[in-house]
Amino acid sequence: MTSTGPAGGAGSLWLPYTQMRTAPPPLRAVWTDGCRIGLADGRVLVDGIASWWTACHGYNHPHIRQAVTDQLGRMPHVMLGGLVHDGALRLAERLAALLPGDLERVFLADSGSVAVEVAMKMAVQFWLNRGERGRTRMVSFRGGYHGDTMATMAVCDPEEGMHSLFAGVLPRHHLVELPRDEDGEAALDAFLAAHASGIAALLVEPLVQGAGGMVFHPPDVLRRLRRLADRHGLLLILDEIFTGFGRTGTMFACEAAGIVPDIVTLSKALTGGTMALSAAVARRHVFDAFSSENPLHALMHGPTFMGNPLACAAANASLDLFEREDRLEQASAIGAQMADELEPCRTLPGVTDVRVMGAIGVVQLEAIRDMDRLKAALVAEGVWVRPFRDIVYLTPALTIRPDKLSRLTGAIRAVLRAA
Ligand SMILES: Cc1ncc(COP(=O)(O)O)c(C=O)c1O
Repeated sequence: MTSTGPAGGAGSLWLPYTQMRTAPPPLRAVWTDGCRIGLADGRVLVDGIASWWTACHGYNHPHIRQAVTDQLGRMPHVMLGGLVHDGALRLAERLAALLPGDLERVFLADSGSVAVEVAMKMAVQFWLNRGERGRTRMVSFRGGYHGDTMATMAVCDPEEGMHSLFAGVLPRHHLVELPRDEDGEAALDAFLAAHASGIAALLVEPLVQGAGGMVFHPPDVLRRLRRLADRHGLLLILDEIFTGFGRTGTMFACEAAGIVPDIVTLSKALTGGTMALSAAVARRHVFDAFSSENPLHALMHGPTFMGNPLACAAANASLDLFEREDRLEQASAIGAQMADELEPCRTLPGVTDVRVMGAIGVVQLEAIRDMDRLKAALVAEGVWVRPFRDIVYLTPALTIRPDKLSRLTGAIRAVLRAA
């Protein structure tokens, strides 16, 4: 017997971030196409968030669909242990070519959280392989989010994130403020001077702290972090799982700051939102620390479905689309339109800020008092927009047409005005 209560429409599913007893029934999706989601009851919603920021070319893109279908006929899966395949080889080469500097060694995994865990493991083992024991801690930043697994929860902001319950259970790292100005840089500099010998790496979401509330910081912050990591001899990990593949206006957010991290994590839009896939990509000097005659120096990690050929086919097809079509130009046009069309929200009661970066548009509220009601009102307007915490935001497909984007911004204006 499945649980009763308003969320009964979930059957035997246990839904994420959901109090199953009190949540309203989930909507049932039956098809997706471009920027539209078709529901079982016949309604069609314009999608404003591209399924947690993944579907950058819109859903069901024919080029990606064809690539996955072709791959399905040849080889849906093969283990990457001891075997390689063309799709993974090609994807790794293409990512290395796209990423700045000598970020050139690509470890494939199956979810964003696992990529972050791999990046942290790489950083810790980097020091162990070089004979420096005790460098086990990460420095992560207030407002940051890096995943929901046990190891990644330990580097999220426990208050801003969703993990405060687990405070006593998780390994301890250092949680500090982003160095937003010179005083912040000096404070972090002093902190690192005192603690560097126990630290493996700094870990940050570049330009946008996504799940922490779509909070932006300027590229200067990243330049400060690069400088500080260099000064204290630490690795810098950028978590580009949300920001990668054009979302902030450049292919990768680190490009806006002109810096090269030592390790970068990717996922979400990597397959154009088609399949689960992620990557932790390391610079040459990081990889070199693992390359020796000693088998214990190898990276001891290997998710079963890492480098799944269907996912690699989707990712390669997604990169084809980035090559053929100017997604960055589209991101910039989306940003300009959102800035225009969300701006009137600024004068509505309860709105404290309207901000746009790349193809991310955010209306910041003082508070959202009745989240379920707000979500239902947006659906009633025919749009799929998922407010959280105290924001209503848009991260549409980079291919969204101006008229569909106006539907989204119009719905947000109408709903916030009515509230
Ligand atoms: C910046 C960042 N890192 C890591 C993750 C975790 O990715 P996943 O949900 O695929 O485990 C997310 C997910 O939202 C994210 O935004």
